Amino acid sequence: MRLAMVGTGYVGLVSGTCFAEFGVDVVCVDTNVEKIEALKKGKIPIFEPGLEDLVAKQVARGRLSFTTNLAEAVKGADAVFIAVGTPPRKEDGHADLSFVYAAAKQVAEAAEGYTVVVTKSTVPVGTARAVEKIIAENKKSDSVIDVASNPEFLREGAAVNDFMRPDRIVIGTDSERAVEVLREVYRPLYLNETPMVITTPETSEIIKYAANAFLATKITFINEIANLCEASGANVQHVAKAIGLDGRIGSKFLHAGPGYGGSCFPKDTLALTQTGQVMKAPQTIVEAVVKANHNRQQQMAERVIAACGGDVKGMKIGVLGVAFKPNTDDVRDAPSLVIIPELQKEGAEIFAHDPEAQEEAEKHLKNVHWVKDPYAVAKDADAVVILTEWNEYRALDMKRLSDSMGVKRLIDMRNIYKPAVMRELGFHYVSIGRPEVTPDSEVKIRKVS
Ligand code: UDX
Repeated sequence: MRLAMVGTGYVGLVSGTCFAEFGVDVVCVDTNVEKIEALKKGKIPIFEPGLEDLVAKQVARGRLSFTTNLAEAVKGADAVFIAVGTPPRKEDGHADLSFVYAAAKQVAEAAEGYTVVVTKSTVPVGTARAVEKIIAENKKSDSVIDVASNPEFLREGAAVNDFMRPDRIVIGTDSERAVEVLREVYRPLYLNETPMVITTPETSEIIKYAANAFLATKITFINEIANLCEASGANVQHVAKAIGLDGRIGSKFLHAGPGYGGSCFPKDTLALTQTGQVMKAPQTIVEAVVKANHNRQQQMAERVIAACGGDVKGMKIGVLGVAFKPNTDDVRDAPSLVIIPELQKEGAEIFAHDPEAQEEAEKHLKNVHWVKDPYAVAKDADAVVILTEWNEYRALDMKRLSDSMGVKRLIDMRNIYKPAVMRELGFHYVSIGRPEVTPDSEVKIRKVS
């Protein structure tokens, strides 16, 4: 079994490497010469736990290789996965499919014998059909090509594990022969009895958007409930725990925070609303989610300003974490990219730390003082804001942190600390969906049991 993976971005690189781990020969293709040269030397362009070791292992075994020559990679491949980017179009937020279509054309021109062409990128409903048409128009007369949709559900920071232990595999195709090839590709998981949903290409494409939009809706829902908790003195963590115990609701993705970010949720929710408009099936709930999440990141900057007494001019503010979530160096659509510039605009001086994402963030954030040690952001600070729940921030010596601060003010947007403990340490502590505490305030927070 031989595969070609077109596109060595997040999805392509993780999927290609993990397929090699399943025992399949994989050639990863990219047009970016520098990236391919770096990968050949074992340099991974992203931070993803476990990936670097796995790439090195599979390259050493001869199962994984990298090239810029698409035609060579495709020739003789049983299946070709298209995992190129689908960024939102600037004018309307619709997914830009030009890279997918260009790849499909080149694959069709190069494929020989029987090949399954699989769209792995997140693509709007109808894309697999469009790819089918492009392939029919460009393929060699003696080749036979079937098209399938096979979306990924990987979380950044846990992508290797998610690929190896998925909740389900979704395959959308009209071809029995293509299903057989993909069953073979996923054989180790198939033998493990990982559920497989075999369906049409249209259904498969919608499944991916529906899953991401549902999760984004769940987060946005609990974020708005958190606002209500703050307004009424209730505790959102208790609300989330209690409603999450209802099996119909489930406890995951009910952590209130500064709004979702990352490479998927913002892009996919927007693309789904666009598809809904174009197909005259408006996704009004998701439209509201997109708007609420956008506003939330702005509101979070206002919240920091309010916690600082309404004016941050000349204040020194420390920021812990700029990645959109822990275990990644990705800052795409991260709340930090909205909150930090807003605080700077209001005259604050920002000192920031992130274990992995500084380099990426430096491309977007200007005039930030970057420090290598989380305690250094707190030195003489008027406030410290926690934006990402990295494990190392959960285990900070808070006494040491508070002792070095100018004003003991902590804004914890990930609820990683306990209000009562922070109060005892002398903090003015503001978190999400829980009552604010000051050293002399009465604590009404109870432990959820
Ligand atoms: C997501 C999906 O989980 C994955 O299945 C899909 O393939 C790609 O998109 P990812 O973007 O890597 O994965 O991150 P995820 O862990 O889902 O978090 C997304 C965002 O939601 C982050 O900004 C995170 O902080 C936020 N979030 C998540 C919350 O605010 N609260 C939660 O309870 C969960």
